[in-house]
Amino acid sequence: MKPVIAIDGHGCSGKGTMARLLAQHFCFAHLDSGSFYRLFACLKLAMAGDFFNSTYPDSGISKIEDISNCLNLFGQCQWDDKSCDKNNFLIELLEEISVHDLLQAKETIPTGVLRSDIVGIEASIIAKIPEVRSILTKLIREFATSVGDEYKGSVVDGRDIGTVVFPDANCKIFMTADQEIRAQRRLNDMPAGTTLKEVYDNLLERDDRDFSRKVAPLTFDSSYVLVDTTRETVEESFARLVDIVNNSIAPSYSQVSR
Ligand code: DC
Repeated sequence: MKPVIAIDGHGCSGKGTMARLLAQHFCFAHLDSGSFYRLFACLKLAMAGDFFNSTYPDSGISKIEDISNCLNLFGQCQWDDKSCDKNNFLIELLEEISVHDLLQAKETIPTGVLRSDIVGIEASIIAKIPEVRSILTKLIREFATSVGDEYKGSVVDGRDIGTVVFPDANCKIFMTADQEIRAQRRLNDMPAGTTLKEVYDNLLERDDRDFSRKVAPLTFDSSYVLVDTTRETVEESFARLVDIVNNSIAPSYSQVSR
């Protein structure tokens, strides 16, 4: 299998940005595994009724079918059966899906919706369900084992990538930053009118859930390099991470080819 760089860490610690930049730099494929959890949070919210119409009227998503169509799942489901157990229902859906379907579906949901706080909170709730985790773990592994010839390996960021998904990853990085700094960074990406307190409380709630869940909680051990970005610019963190990766993977993989 081609090398895997695992980047875990707190929400808004900069792991997504760093993972993307490292992937470009080393010519690796990048997967933001949180987006898979967020996608299923969107499905669950849409199943709960009028969520997208009332919350994101401009999203182009008016009903569950808009999401499910892109997963090629419409027709298999009893969408109107409001009495069904939504978690079991989602798990059944997940079992049918390939990593390719998920990547395609992700493209059809506006970034603003996928990255929204409400979807993030719901994602951290479904992320506690062991069956959801084990299916998504399988799909994330599938991503790394099927990267195209144009890539030398993969960079995967998330919460349990180096602990559960790829315990033998070639390089494991745990990223963090002070809570206030993370909230401030997140606020910069939020629509006008959002307050620092709202963002801060939201982060706190998600951190708490990520740390305390029974299955695959957010954690790290001595196999990781800890990177605290509190006092660093993006450029400084990136330079540090390039060094860390260069020291962890074989020179033939770390030579930059573009
Ligand atoms: O990284 P993010 O904010 O997009 O992740 C959203 C939620 O998904 C996060 O609160 C926890 C969950 N998640 C997870 O449990 N395991 C992962 N590998 C990635 C995300």
